[in-house]
Amino acid sequence: MDSPLSILYLSTAAVAGAAAVFPKVKARLALSRAKHRSLSGHSKMSRVVARMVPFYEFNINDFFGSDGAPADLAKKRQDGFFRLAKLYQERYAKGRQMTAEAATRISDLQFTETYRVPFQYSRLVREHLGNSAFVKSSSGVTVTDVDGNVAYDLTGSYGVNIFGNDFYKECVAGAEKRAHALGPVLGPYHPVITDNVKRLTEISGLDEVSFHMSGTEAVMQAVRLARYHTSRTHLVRFAGSYHGWWGDVQPGVGNPVAPHETYTLADMSERTLHVLKTRRDIACVLVNPLQALHPNVNAPGDAALVDSSRTGNFDRAAYGAWLKALRKVCDHRGIVLIFDEVFVGFRIAYRGAQEYFGVRADMVTYGKSLAGGLPIGVVCGRKELMRRFRDDRPADVCFARGTFNSHPYVMTAMDEFLSRLASPNFRSVYDGLDETWNGRAAQLNDRLAAQDLPVRVSNLSSIWMAHYTEPSRYNWMLQYYLRAEGLALSWVGTGRLIFSLNYTEADFAEVADRFVAAAEKMKQDGWWWRDASLTNKTIRRKMLKEMIAHRFSRR
Ligand SMILES: Cc1ncc(COP(=O)(O)O)c(C=O)c1O
Repeated sequence: MDSPLSILYLSTAAVAGAAAVFPKVKARLALSRAKHRSLSGHSKMSRVVARMVPFYEFNINDFFGSDGAPADLAKKRQDGFFRLAKLYQERYAKGRQMTAEAATRISDLQFTETYRVPFQYSRLVREHLGNSAFVKSSSGVTVTDVDGNVAYDLTGSYGVNIFGNDFYKECVAGAEKRAHALGPVLGPYHPVITDNVKRLTEISGLDEVSFHMSGTEAVMQAVRLARYHTSRTHLVRFAGSYHGWWGDVQPGVGNPVAPHETYTLADMSERTLHVLKTRRDIACVLVNPLQALHPNVNAPGDAALVDSSRTGNFDRAAYGAWLKALRKVCDHRGIVLIFDEVFVGFRIAYRGAQEYFGVRADMVTYGKSLAGGLPIGVVCGRKELMRRFRDDRPADVCFARGTFNSHPYVMTAMDEFLSRLASPNFRSVYDGLDETWNGRAAQLNDRLAAQDLPVRVSNLSSIWMAHYTEPSRYNWMLQYYLRAEGLALSWVGTGRLIFSLNYTEADFAEVADRFVAAAEKMKQDGWWWRDASLTNKTIRRKMLKEMIAHRFSRR
């Protein structure tokens, strides 16, 4: 092997090999550089880290001073906590009992009840500040729970509730009447479907429509079609964005296996554009326009609120420019641009994010509100992308079905929804929407600043989130003070406050008063104490030390 000939042979092979390998290495490097530097930008790493986090919790002795606050302040917090606990016990007596019983058999409820606050505090909070998962009625912008307590509804029903609960009651009642003659006959279509298709193609500006049963399924189908028509494997999603719970769009924490055909890239990044321009395996780019409120960050639930580094910074012009840049590169590279408007569709503008940001997509997914309060997922797309078979290769099909898709009751409810929206009178609801909601957010922020409270809100139109201006380990407590003031949030807490558009100025003024009152009480109870050594960084460092200590104390 060591003859001059064989050495020459080997070195020629090495150079050839390196040359062959180099573009791959370069492409791999470009991909790494296009990832957001946070854990949400590194799906595999985030799953590894998540598996390493050990369970530990604060007992009653260290729960109130876990940030190093002095003993008298910890006592003040404790008194505040148990004052709230007493209020909750009396006010939600029936609902709490029902919730506790139901949670023994409803796994979804066990999950949401456990993940309302950071896990270190969860058990004591569940024991003492548990509230009711059961509501019995809604009216206007309020809901009434099984104990008879009335609260302002800021849950937005996961985003479904855009026009107020009474609007959806009317849609469902109207739908039931119209579908009754046919009943739940599945397979053949209720005639109303033709009107829905007409309206959806007009709203989306796209050629064809397919019906599904949830937003998750609509996204699955859009991505599957993009892969089928481009003969490429990979989808690109952006760090932090939610597209339902299908594995390929949820490659990080929450999914037990790692999908291999998803690239999670940084939102609003030149490096991402470079990857899109240079790789040949990308079938589609999936955009959830809600990310404009917090690019590259997960939907911020209070369970993840371990310090005050969460912020919101919606910049409509900058995000619009980003979408235009994406549009351009997708056109150039034959990549399918999919807008996932399951959340923002029908909320931010009549024609959704396409209209709001002035950018056309190749496919759009809708869901949530579109069927007037009934379950739905829809894909709208360009004709050539929606086709599920090929004329020249009849066995090469792209399969998608679903027992309940095009359900007559859902279709009539969708028609109730869309025909209301078709009326110009009704549609004036979108006039000046941003001004209204930006103005309301600014109003509330002014009041919070004037009262020297370390909370602010950010918003994308009527979708709001709270964030915090001083480092604290206890910001998640705000949701319990808000609840005590009669403001109902969803299980993710202050990371999402969703208003329906029927909130009047008077309703909003009431919510703002209550919000400020809740924050004042929380401040009085000492939760927002800090000394000079407490920063977001020192909080995270302390947590890391706690984790390491617990991990090794186990062994
Ligand atoms: C942008 C987006 N896509 C998809 C989904 C999934 O929709 P569904 O919960 O109906 O499956 C959601 C749900 O919140 C969403 O916000």
